[in-house]
Amino acid sequence: MNTVEKIKKLKEEKKAIILAHYYVDEEVQKIADYIGDSFYLAKVASQTEADRIVFAGVEFMGESDAFADCPMAHMITIKEIKEMREKYDDLAVVCYINSTAEIKQYADVCVTSSNAVKIVKALPQKNIFFIPDQNLGDFVRKQVPEKNVMTNYGHCPRHTNITLEKLNEAKEKYPEAKVAVHPECKREIVEAADFVGSTSAIIDYVVQSDAKDFIIGTVDGVFAKIKELAPNKELHTIMDVQVCPNMKKVTLEKILDVLENETNEVILNDEFMQKALSPLEKMLELAK
Ligand code: 13P
Ligand code: SF4
Repeated sequence: MNTVEKIKKLKEEKKAIILAHYYVDEEVQKIADYIGDSFYLAKVASQTEADRIVFAGVEFMGESDAFADCPMAHMITIKEIKEMREKYDDLAVVCYINSTAEIKQYADVCVTSSNAVKIVKALPQKNIFFIPDQNLGDFVRKQVPEKNVMTNYGHCPRHTNITLEKLNEAKEKYPEAKVAVHPECKREIVEAADFVGSTSAIIDYVVQSDAKDFIIGTVDGVFAKIKELAPNKELHTIMDVQVCPNMKKVTLEKILDVLENETNEVILNDEFMQKALSPLEKMLELAK
């Protein structure tokens, strides 16, 4: 039996499902039961009746593989949140899902890139401390001008690496191409794009568009789904390399090991879990 066959067999035996983010390698996406953006995967995880969930993503998604970590998840401290709470009576702490479970305990609501604008708009508070991604926070600030959106210094190294100079070069090379980027990119990139959205939204935009050529400002893992749904599209990256090294750590061998030996189980104590769960549940409710 090869690795894929072993995974399929164990998955059935152990009543497990595999959830994969679009940024993991194509071969891992192929064995997944559900592939999606962070919001979709969070929803599937909260609704499944499976006995086990194997999360093929970075640590914050399942708090599972400590070696496949998202650096942005650690770019905010509890101290910073407490200081902001002391400063403002009327404050909502809005926590991007790319954060640790420990930080989520101190948040009012979680968001993903696909629902951040909608959720911030729906909050009763005027003052918003948006953590830990300053670029997604800035995107929200522009879309929700009636709120006072404050951010901290956090960012995704993969998306902030994307430069306007390189984007302009790509536009010159492919003048017919539409530009679709993730809101984790810097403001100048977002402003120069035709479309800004989550990984799922970018895929939908490209697949449904009449255009043929696209310059994509996010991790190139999204190319696999686009190629499957719309093989005739021409996809170009902005930078020479647009990979998330953390997501790349998820391999078929590691998934097999998790299923076979039941390694990397996430164990959170009840009190901790309840506190971290509350802003996630609020997100699911407000995003409806
Ligand atoms: P999405 O929620 O758009 O899938 O993004 C997750 C992520 O990590 C982007 O870098
Ligand atoms: Fe984290 Fe950036 Fe990788 Fe997304 S692309 S998981 S934000 S490091």
